Amino acid sequence: MTSLSVRFGLALLHSTLILSIFGVIGINTVSMSDLESIITSHGGQVLRITDVGYPKAATLWNAAIQVWPSLIIRPATYDDVALALSTLYSLNVPIRIMGGRHSYGGYCSHRGVVLDSTLLKKLEIDWESETITMQAGLIWSEVYAALNGSEYAIIGGLCPTVGVVGYTSAGGYNSLYSRSYGLGSDNVLSFKVATYNGTIVTASSTSNPDLYWALRGGGGGNFGYVLEMIHKIHRINQTNLPTGQHSFLSITWSNRNDFRAVLRNWLKFVDEVANFDTRIGFDVIIFTNSENSFLLIYGSFNGPHADLESIFQPWLSKGPKPDIYTVKNFTQFEVITVTGTANYPFPVKERQHIVSAMAINITEAMLDVLLESQPNTTFQISQYIGVIYLHDTNKDKNTAWAFPDITFDIAPGFVWYTSEDDSTAINIAESWLKRLMNAAAPTESIVGGYLNYIDPYMDNWQQMYYREHWDRLREIKTVWDPTWYFRFPQGIPPNNP
Ligand SMILES: Cc1cc2nc3c(=O)[nH]c(=O)nc-3n(C[C@H](O)[C@H](O)[C@H](O)COP(=O)(O)OP(=O)(O)OC[C@H]3O[C@@H](n4cnc5c(N)ncnc54)[C@H](O)[C@@H]3O)c2cc1C
Ligand SMILES: *[C@@H]1O[C@H](CO)[C@@H](O)[C@H](O)[C@H]1NC(C)=O
Ligand SMILES: *[C@@H]1O[C@H](CO)[C@@H](O)[C@H](O)[C@H]1NC(C)=O
Ligand SMILES: *[C@@H]1O[C@H](CO)[C@@H](O)[C@H](O)[C@H]1NC(C)=O
Ligand SMILES: *[C@@H]1O[C@H](CO)[C@@H](O)[C@H](O)[C@H]1NC(C)=O
Ligand SMILES: *[C@@H]1O[C@H](CO)[C@@H](O)[C@H](O)[C@H]1NC(C)=O
Ligand SMILES: *[C@@H]1O[C@H](CO)[C@@H](O)[C@H](O)[C@H]1NC(C)=O
Repeated sequence: MTSLSVRFGLALLHSTLILSIFGVIGINTVSMSDLESIITSHGGQVLRITDVGYPKAATLWNAAIQVWPSLIIRPATYDDVALALSTLYSLNVPIRIMGGRHSYGGYCSHRGVVLDSTLLKKLEIDWESETITMQAGLIWSEVYAALNGSEYAIIGGLCPTVGVVGYTSAGGYNSLYSRSYGLGSDNVLSFKVATYNGTIVTASSTSNPDLYWALRGGGGGNFGYVLEMIHKIHRINQTNLPTGQHSFLSITWSNRNDFRAVLRNWLKFVDEVANFDTRIGFDVIIFTNSENSFLLIYGSFNGPHADLESIFQPWLSKGPKPDIYTVKNFTQFEVITVTGTANYPFPVKERQHIVSAMAINITEAMLDVLLESQPNTTFQISQYIGVIYLHDTNKDKNTAWAFPDITFDIAPGFVWYTSEDDSTAINIAESWLKRLMNAAAPTESIVGGYLNYIDPYMDNWQQMYYREHWDRLREIKTVWDPTWYFRFPQGIPPNNP
């Protein structure tokens, strides 16, 4: 027998002993070193800073918030996630839960112990019931690849490397399909969750419905370790195109003098046509770097190709002529080759900060702020202002998603390259948001910020992310994590922790 299996045998004996002494059902704890042996003996991994695989495993998507954990534990089974939680909880060791590592605040990591889902990659599609079961370690490109070639799409991110649980727990929108099929969180039928003490529970409309409500919009990392989710998938057959294709438009203007007229014309189309036709989706990007500026509108149409020109041409003919106009027949997987892979390689070298304004409407005063940035050679800081069209995307109102009333998420991202520019760039971003909020104040057009673009510098984040759901979320937190074990700077605290 190798020393590993001897230790493993002892570990089992040890945990059985604890169980029998205390007569506890469901709570199982071992020592830290036994935990490591058990996890590795089941195909899991344990990584320290000196291990070969560590740098790659610990690297976060946003270089500006990189922190290096002391230990990364990667369980390969649900029971081992549960054992890790009950053990670390009983030893009073704080943890963070790591998924796709795209949290803009870096809240999936810290200087201590991290539980990483990356080995939990199973995916099961049930064509009959039109559902998919996804384990927590999956990223969206893996799910799209599995569905490609079928007629089915799922509500996931446009960035291929985003993790499925982080995205979905905070709502999760898809600027092309959410208008047809809802937010990511609207589409979850059930979660399997490991709680702080290692108990594994199901959360669905019939089982622990309060937890089910909170996990759909309340945000990753707050209520427990999500092990797997069952989502609805959607058949794209109304486009009359093969293999679930839909129409994907890419429209670009490069003359800055046209931008205001383009946006006014687009907002008018949104008000008069798109708001009444949920087959239409938009993602608008105003891009500015030191030398360059352009306005790009991605559009999507989830209906017959034959209707396309008659819907979009009347709009486009009333505004400045675009420099580029293309229409493609794309599957969901093909879209991310345009919006995703090229633009968001992982890990990236850039440092990033993003802010978000959930908006009811966009007024002229707000357009002034959207259009103020000019190419400026003084700074190597680029800015892409995303205006994501989200009217009527929240299809299930009985969730923790706090924004059933919005039409846009105005979400500028700022990108730079050296740590010397950190404070300048963050200042530019936060003061930009303040100017936008001031411009929107007279019309009360901005009602909050998007939790998935979590912003460590945001004041009043409780109100901004959660609005009137804050008190109920705290009550649910009190039931499911009374001692505030799942904790991070902008996390939901229980009452009287
Ligand atoms: C380039 C880019 C593009 C994006 N595009 C979109 C978009 O189109 N639409 C959109 O809605 N959002 C988008 N996002 C935001 C993205 O959805 C969030 O950053 C999301 O929280 C990332 O999830 P993750 O698992 O990758 O990240 P992580 O940093 O690993 O996790 C995010 C949070 O969830 C927690 N968490 C992770 N896994 C679990 C688990 N198994 N159980 C419990 N908690 C867990 C973490 O602790 C952390 O607090 C984008 C982000 C980036 C960087
Ligand atoms: C995705 O599916 C489409 C349609 O069947 C196909 O043309 C394309 O090659 C597939 N892409 C990949 C990367 O498999
Ligand atoms: C489209 O797909 C849905 C879901 O599978 C199905 O109910 C519907 O009948 C299909 N419609 C057509 C025209 O095939
Ligand atoms: C998309 O499909 C339609 C309908 O089959 C076809 O007329 C059109 O040429 C296709 N577009 C491209 C770019 O292939
Ligand atoms: C460029 O940015 C700097 C710093 O914000 C500012 O002082 C300067 O006026 C800007 N120049 C232009 C042309 O906007
Ligand atoms: C914008 O929305 C706010 C809040 O619903 C409303 O009071 C205001 O009249 C709207 N303004 C415009 C210009 O549409
Ligand atoms: C574990 O925590 C859950 C949620 O607080 C609680 O309902 C359950 O009773 C706990 N289990 C044990 C064995 O203490």
